[in-house]
Amino acid sequence: MIHNFAMDGKPTLKELAAMTGFSVSTVSRALSNAEKVKYSTKKRIDSAIDEYYGRKNRTLSGIIGLIVPDLANQFFPLMLTGIDNVASISGYTLILSNSDGSPEKEDKVLNKMIDIGVEGVIFVSSGNATDFTRQVVSSGIVPVVFLDRHPCIDGIDFITTGNYEGMYQAARYLLTLKHRRILYLGGKPGTSTENERLSGFKAAMEEAALPVEERDVLCADFSFQKGYEVVRDLLCGNRFEYTAIAAANDNMALGAIKALQEKRISVPDQVSVIGYDDIPGAEFSGLTTIKQPFVEMGRRATYQLLATIKDPFIPKQTVILPTTVVFRNSCAIASDYTG
Ligand code: RIB
Repeated sequence: MIHNFAMDGKPTLKELAAMTGFSVSTVSRALSNAEKVKYSTKKRIDSAIDEYYGRKNRTLSGIIGLIVPDLANQFFPLMLTGIDNVASISGYTLILSNSDGSPEKEDKVLNKMIDIGVEGVIFVSSGNATDFTRQVVSSGIVPVVFLDRHPCIDGIDFITTGNYEGMYQAARYLLTLKHRRILYLGGKPGTSTENERLSGFKAAMEEAALPVEERDVLCADFSFQKGYEVVRDLLCGNRFEYTAIAAANDNMALGAIKALQEKRISVPDQVSVIGYDDIPGAEFSGLTTIKQPFVEMGRRATYQLLATIKDPFIPKQTVILPTTVVFRNSCAIASDYTG
């Protein structure tokens, strides 16, 4: 049933058009019960009205939720700093949940956050959004801003960094150091950050007429332990003929260095290693890396969420922040370069 209502502080035709993507005239015809509007159109407009009232009646809890995939990874608490900076000066309290990168757990924590009445959610996706997450986003029952990893949903608010460009620059730097045999150490397959970094790495290598073969790409999962294990196993075989390793995050880069040092392989004299993120452990270890502006990422996501809480009809936006190369001492001229 389509609501009939006067325009006294209730959703206007323009607001409903913005919420549904239909034109104002289509919304007007649907509301006047004109026969020539499709049932599905009327249904969508009807649910938009329910959403509107749902939002209007949501008590102002003063709470925003944050869902991250791996609390043990220093990168995510570092983004939390930026989020909390903005949330606390704006009078909001943060509640944080760890999804362990599990879509099932994402649904559970997102549902609980809605139940307790959060006013909005900042969401680092495990990769491919579940149907429930898609419904929450399309219904607008609570504003969601996605951060860092893309959930494969169109028309969302999304804050990330230039993952392709960042890893492209990392490979370019190793190539300027005359490395020709570079091993790529990849993070969690299927995440947008991993996919884009691998593409950037391949692009730089192909530009240097050094096409990347399957054997040159190791799959890990962004953790120190997995990064260590896959490089250790490669070193145990007799296939390690690389002079450099480009890792898709610092945790794995540091794990790789542990494996190399166990085999008495010196970094960077024999093998150069570059990481990605610039977590505190990178500076402590002298790791050359690609710095992600994680505090700014968190701040921008929170500003966007608070703006959407205030006005659910502001345009959605994608923000891609730049990365920078941080030069330390884990990279040197290729050990097989003879000038
Ligand atoms: O270290 C974890 C990685 O996964 C980071 O590079 C971040 O971008 C996330 O996608």
